[in-house]
Amino acid sequence: MTGFPTIRLRRFRRTKALRSLVRETRLSPDRFVAPLFVRHGSDRHEEISSLPGVFRLSPDLAVAEARELQKLGVPAVILFGLPERKDDVGSEAWAESGAVQETVRRLKDSTPDLVVMTDVCLDEYTSHGHCGVVRNGEVDNDATLPLLAQTAVSQARAGADVVAPSDMMDGRVAAIRRALDAEGFPDVAILAYSAKSASAFYGPFREAVDSTPKFGDRRGYQMEPGNRREAMREIAFDLEEGADAVLVKPALAYLDVIREARNRFDAPIGAYNVSGEYAMVKAAAKNGWVDEKKIVTEILTGIFRAGADFVLTYHAKDAAGWIAEGSLPL
Ligand code: PBG
Repeated sequence: MTGFPTIRLRRFRRTKALRSLVRETRLSPDRFVAPLFVRHGSDRHEEISSLPGVFRLSPDLAVAEARELQKLGVPAVILFGLPERKDDVGSEAWAESGAVQETVRRLKDSTPDLVVMTDVCLDEYTSHGHCGVVRNGEVDNDATLPLLAQTAVSQARAGADVVAPSDMMDGRVAAIRRALDAEGFPDVAILAYSAKSASAFYGPFREAVDSTPKFGDRRGYQMEPGNRREAMREIAFDLEEGADAVLVKPALAYLDVIREARNRFDAPIGAYNVSGEYAMVKAAAKNGWVDEKKIVTEILTGIFRAGADFVLTYHAKDAAGWIAEGSLPL
């Protein structure tokens, strides 16, 4: 005899303790990666207006922030840099004295167990705001590869554990892997932003690093949002080229892409809960239109339920804090 009234799914929903026994998806800070924006100088702590609670930090304060994150159980950060000066090839991206390189060295000294990831891309560093070298009004794929490889090597030399190319050039994973191996960094991992869409959800990030393209847009290299099959091809090629883990980005409008990737590939899969997703939550919460803790809990749960192994999220510190104090609204 099956079906109602023999079966009542509500029996295991009756109390908090019963619900916790059958909860399929749990939030844990050890699956969070916190993005940090770093700039030159010391004692600098600049609020980013479109990302309340996120700051551009000088290396000393980035170290302090990383310590707090680590205390809350967050095992990893990913660094984005602001250069002193931008130029047309983005040369500060691979400068030994770059804010990212400097911060990596300090983090490795002060919090050696923290996983330090670095974003490999040129857009924060180029005067035109594109992710590669511009030739005849277009982003030149092959001319960009050596610059990305050089950037990844400079980050590895500073001590990065994981380099994360977000540029969407074809062949960048292979170029970066070859360069890392040739320069003596066979153990530095590559987290490829494989399925990265040309998305309006990056708006606040571009304000944070002033990387809005000065002409055109990124649709010539980032993916068409509607293409799930192509996303699988991107992931397959990146894994073939030597990616150790892959990223789906953004997360919320792409949960099906995360799920399909999870079903098809055994490699670790991360999801990037991007700046626009965060900014919308903060704005609505500030207006009292949504309950921030509940919304964030549900969003992060959804991303993990879709199949992500880890999530890059600006909510990392808050959520880890709620977990630590036992105040998750479950
Ligand atoms: C490119 C890069 C971007 C983001 C991460 N890496 C911006 C872009 O592609 O325009 C966006 C992340 C976010 O919105 O949180 N370096």
